[in-house]
Amino acid sequence: MVRVGLVGFGKVGQFLLDEFINQPDKFEVVFVWNRTGSALLKHSFLQGHPECILDSLDKIGDQDLDIIIEVSHPSTVIKYANKFLEVANLFVGSPSAFASKDLDECVHAVQTGKTKNSIYVPVGALWGSRDISRLAEMKKLTALNITMKKHPTSYRLEEGEAKTVLDRVLREETEGETILFKGTVRELCKHAPNNVNTMACLALASSPSLGFDAVIGCIVSDPALQSHVIEVDVVGQNGFKVQTIRDNPAGVGAVTGRATFDSFLCSILEACQIFEHSKHSKTRVGKVILV
Ligand SMILES: NC(=O)c1ccc[n+]([C@@H]2O[C@H](COP(=O)([O-])OP(=O)(O)OC[C@H]3O[C@@H](n4cnc5c(N)ncnc54)[C@H](O)[C@@H]3O)[C@@H](O)[C@H]2O)c1
Repeated sequence: MVRVGLVGFGKVGQFLLDEFINQPDKFEVVFVWNRTGSALLKHSFLQGHPECILDSLDKIGDQDLDIIIEVSHPSTVIKYANKFLEVANLFVGSPSAFASKDLDECVHAVQTGKTKNSIYVPVGALWGSRDISRLAEMKKLTALNITMKKHPTSYRLEEGEAKTVLDRVLREETEGETILFKGTVRELCKHAPNNVNTMACLALASSPSLGFDAVIGCIVSDPALQSHVIEVDVVGQNGFKVQTIRDNPAGVGAVTGRATFDSFLCSILEACQIFEHSKHSKTRVGKVILV
């Protein structure tokens, strides 16, 4: 049994709560937090269990918890990651947060075993993350490029260069492929924090060889697409190359495809399994683990 705290109650959070309450042998819901508390009261489980509603993240610490699952916004991770890790393992659903240098110290502390608790990062739409991690650990990874292609209405961009191009594409109904932004994943995370979690995960997988400043990401709009396409080009030493193309059917305008919800749940189950295996170890140290 894993005691979970759920931070965020949008599409992913609601999906996860339903999964947790349907699997009472595996999960105990300790709390659910959402920026807008009223959204929580619409759920029948929370109406019947008001003690599970957490009104402020500053109150975390009073509960007995195994894992905190964040599915809200990168800013929540940036603000609370240290506090979360003091009390539990942390599953980060918004890994584009790691593009913020404010989290470097926190990640370094976990990577170097200075914490008891781990950071789990869901691989999401990233195919082959373990192979990439292995290449990176062996220092045999020399370049990584990742391209995401979607219908223009599937992008949620922050104000700036990429959004200006997207707005023009939407206004002029531009056909065919248009590059909205190409640059380091660190830069791209600022433009599209909700769309490029997969790219952030790739940047983490490529560490210590490459990381957020060396992996190159590109977001492309194509109004003919009814799927989310992710292309990853891996380059290693001595002419080694791998290219993967993931094509995930998704309705026009959808930010997250159905396969992503299922993949998210699989990642949580894997994180819980890893945690349960290690929880009684007296020498347990934290790690950053892609699941
Ligand atoms: N890793 C992945 O593969 C993957 C896949 C899907 C979603 N996500 C991420 O998970 C998170 C939730 O996704 P979703 O589809 O449920 O989104 P959503 O828009 O349906 O819900 C977001 C939730 O977070 C809250 N929120 C929004 N902005 C906030 C802020 N600045 N501070 C605190 N709370 C805020 C909203 O109130 C809402 O409850 C997002 O960050 C999204 O990028 C990651």
